[in-house]
Amino acid sequence: MIRLADVTYRYPRATVPALDGLSFEVSTGQFCAVIGANGAGKTTLCSALAGFVPQFYRGTITGSIEVAGLNVVESPLADIAGTVGLVFSNPFNQITGARFTVRDEIAFGLENMAVPVAEMEPRIEEIMRFAGLEGLADRSPFALSGGQQQRLAIASVLVMRPKVVVLDEPTSQLDPVGAKEVFSVLRSLATTAETTVFMAEQKLEWVAAFADRVLVLHQGKLVADGPPGEVLASPDLGRYGLQPTRYTQVARAAQLAGLRSADTPLPVTLEQAVEFFN
Ligand SMILES: Nc1ncnc2c1ncn2[C@@H]1O[C@H](COP(=O)(O)OP(=O)(O)OP(=O)(O)O)[C@@H](O)[C@H]1O
Ligand SMILES: [Mg+2]
Repeated sequence: MIRLADVTYRYPRATVPALDGLSFEVSTGQFCAVIGANGAGKTTLCSALAGFVPQFYRGTITGSIEVAGLNVVESPLADIAGTVGLVFSNPFNQITGARFTVRDEIAFGLENMAVPVAEMEPRIEEIMRFAGLEGLADRSPFALSGGQQQRLAIASVLVMRPKVVVLDEPTSQLDPVGAKEVFSVLRSLATTAETTVFMAEQKLEWVAAFADRVLVLHQGKLVADGPPGEVLASPDLGRYGLQPTRYTQVARAAQLAGLRSADTPLPVTLEQAVEFFN
């Protein structure tokens, strides 16, 4: 569970807040996506959920942030790390550089958590299968493709079994097939393992297909919040610097051309588009 109450945050010396009066709750096991144009505050929000904002970046914060029962504004980062797993958009920032193999890289977090060795091996095997990294255990983390590195970064976080996983555009390095795999993994994590998934993402088609809920940030403010079908089909999207999915665009064009009734709800996924045009 994530709970923000009236959170406003300014980076040091910034004149405008990066997060401006945010209040929302995300329940346990929900897959929640946050979207918004460049500079909207997505990365800042992800960093705040993991305590890096303000504990690492400094600056000034008001309001409260609770993640899985922890006050992340004040709890030591080491305590937060065991509960909130943070995955950055660039896997290069995540890979420790201190380990020579994929297996050891994944083991790193477990060693820090003092997980018994006998328990480590099956957990690593399981998570490598989950993340599609089979056969790469003995490879150097630096001899992987961008997509494989991204999946390694995700595996290294998930192996610690965090209650909440926060991901900042985790599919930016991935091709469409790789991105879909990552979304599927996160979807099943939320559904079957009751892990709360909070993800900043620009790929609205994937958000539409996989997320339970979408938050829209605009200049640090929460301007929309609801199920993907509602938020992503909204005519307001353009005002926030976002482009609807191609399914919504084509359907809207069909409505404007008079080929479809104007009150049929607009599709946001391929499946919905097929239904819309049938
Ligand atoms: N370390 C920093 N110091 C000062 N200002 C920052 C810092 N990081 C981000 N900002 C500012 O905070 C605001 C929000 O930035 P943020 O990176 O959170 O946006 P974003 O939605 O993640 O954008 P993008 O889509 O480009 O990743 C922007 O105005 C940005 O310039
Ligand atoms: Mg960002």
